[in-house]
Amino acid sequence: MKKVLAVVLALVLTLSLAGMAVAEGKVGVAMPTQSLQRWNQDGENMKAQLEAAGFTVDLQYANNEVATQVSQLENMILNGAQVLVVASIDGSALGTVLATAKEAGIPIIAYDRLLTDTEAVDYYTTFDNYKVGQIQGQYIVDRFDLSNDAVTGPFTIEFTAGSPDDNNAGLFFAGAYDTLKPYLDAGKLVIPSGQDQFEVVATPAWKSETSQARMDNILSAFYPEALTGGTTLDIALCSNDSTALGVTNSLVAAGFTAENIPVITGQDCDIANTKNMIAGLQAMSVFKDTRTLAEQTVKMVSDILSGVAPETNGVYDNKVKEVASYNCTPVFADASNYVELLIDSGYYTEDQLK
Ligand code: BGC
Repeated sequence: MKKVLAVVLALVLTLSLAGMAVAEGKVGVAMPTQSLQRWNQDGENMKAQLEAAGFTVDLQYANNEVATQVSQLENMILNGAQVLVVASIDGSALGTVLATAKEAGIPIIAYDRLLTDTEAVDYYTTFDNYKVGQIQGQYIVDRFDLSNDAVTGPFTIEFTAGSPDDNNAGLFFAGAYDTLKPYLDAGKLVIPSGQDQFEVVATPAWKSETSQARMDNILSAFYPEALTGGTTLDIALCSNDSTALGVTNSLVAAGFTAENIPVITGQDCDIANTKNMIAGLQAMSVFKDTRTLAEQTVKMVSDILSGVAPETNGVYDNKVKEVASYNCTPVFADASNYVELLIDSGYYTEDQLK
């Protein structure tokens, strides 16, 4: 009997201690837009996980408008946020409002996208963004066996990059381009449009419509006979899924099918793109588990608010300072491993991909 009582007492004590450990505080979470799939997931994950940890959450989406994001951040500061988690639209455009937060003593975590040109950012949680591009580039190297001396090509390739105001976009492009550069230099890969500069291949706001229209133009200018025996396009290196979707739509509208569509790369494993991978229209994507990113960010928020130094494993230069970062690992995805990666892990249900 005494033993039972002791166990019960120990249990009560543990539970009440655990109760005391529940974090408190208001966290402002600023997300760029609801128009691209991933940010809805990021927002939902962040809110759910922060609330489960005991925080109050002010989650806002800014419709891809910088002015809206600025006013949302101002309101979060006025409403007593104790930490700000910011996934920016334009990483360099928030200096003034971030400086206000800093003056008010509010720590700032850049979420997925780096906040640049400002002192007022304390930490950064993201993925290894250069690595994302390397995974895409390496896939092309392997798929076309480019490192084999006997393979001379030339294979045609066109690049589509992300939004110039997003620091990640340049890193994704550089990771892919640097990986492919030896083969471009050797003439195994050729770019019929000649468009190989980030500024030229960039897609403002990562919009599918924009990448689709650009691919329409490229096809008619440089591949007019692609389907009738003329120069065809072998590879469309796209930095992410929203741009890949536009490029795929353009190619399908031009008459390409799963049998002859160029090898298209992507990133995010968006639902529409995963369906395209299953259908043979997109070759690969890069999976970045937004649940893990949220988990790391929530840990960071908890540590900061309890006065503990958060765990970091990297740094990113934001042009003014080196920002300590926690980098999650991006993972290669294609039709051969999506079940394990996306369905078995509970990221999507089978029905969502039908
Ligand atoms: C993210 C990508 C995403 C892109 C467009 C980038 O900052 O890292 O995962 O595809 O924004 O939303």
